[in-house]
Amino acid sequence: QPPPLVVVGSANADIYVEIDRLPNEGETISAKTGQTLAGGKGANQATCGAKLSYPTYFVGQVGDDANGKLITEALGNGGVRLEYLKSLGKGVPTGHAVVMLQSDGQNSIIIVGGANMSCWPEKLSDQDLDVVKKAGIVLLQREIPDYVNIQVAKAARSAGVTIIMDAGGMDTPMPQELLNYVDILSPNESELGRLTGMPTESFEQISQAAAKCHKMGVKQVLVKLGAKGSALFVEGEEPIRQPIIPAAQVLDTTGAGDTFTAAFAVALVEGKPKEECMRFAAAAASLCVQVKGAIPSMPDRKSVLNLLQSVEVHS
Ligand code: RIB
Repeated sequence: QPPPLVVVGSANADIYVEIDRLPNEGETISAKTGQTLAGGKGANQATCGAKLSYPTYFVGQVGDDANGKLITEALGNGGVRLEYLKSLGKGVPTGHAVVMLQSDGQNSIIIVGGANMSCWPEKLSDQDLDVVKKAGIVLLQREIPDYVNIQVAKAARSAGVTIIMDAGGMDTPMPQELLNYVDILSPNESELGRLTGMPTESFEQISQAAAKCHKMGVKQVLVKLGAKGSALFVEGEEPIRQPIIPAAQVLDTTGAGDTFTAAFAVALVEGKPKEECMRFAAAAASLCVQVKGAIPSMPDRKSVLNLLQSVEVHS
């Protein structure tokens, strides 16, 4: 067995409301439909890893409620190893997110932390830290408390395990202590702007913001640029750019960033060159946006390889 991918992070019930436009202040509008689907950045990334047939563990917390069951089942069906998923018992609700999905597939999301943000032990258990130390890559995001991420990152670093941090989640400044441990930071354009306090509209501005991340101690910055693809900035090297692989139709972009980061991590832990990792991730994200829901839209390896092959044949 290769060293696993270990994802430590959040699990959410995504409460979808499909709307033509966002409501104005003080306005009430009707949604076309509503539905609850499994999601959360951590659970999405873990499911993506497992669906791509890489051994993947999820370390996270849910409540003892219907949403907790929904997510646990979705993770299990996706093939995620759940030995380190805790149910907090009654009284703490599973994390949830209101996903306002507009007709063009774009979304706005509000998260409610619930079990993701509550009752983590002050010091993580030896079992939790052991699985982290045995990982090939550890994947983190910012929907659980920073002090938990810091402990995990510290343990991973002590064992020489690569840490990829998706910058998505809470909008508070990222603690320097956490950044010190991160090997690859993966923000989208707005998260990069938030992290650095710099504009990120043009590629030049993005390059400068990535250079600031290097100064903040992160040697590799993998920026997700939406329709403009992705760019990897490794300190002291020329950036690598990767366009998107266009989707036949964009139904829902929720979870596309998570898919990209996790698919990149899988390809990287398998030893592929960075450029190839980015292409594999682009193919996975392209498939993700064609299906509604975050966890329900994670593609399997066969679909990703088929897409990459068909793109090669037609280029
Ligand atoms: O990245 C997408 C995810 O963000 C959603 O699944 C939602 O739960 C929020 O965490």
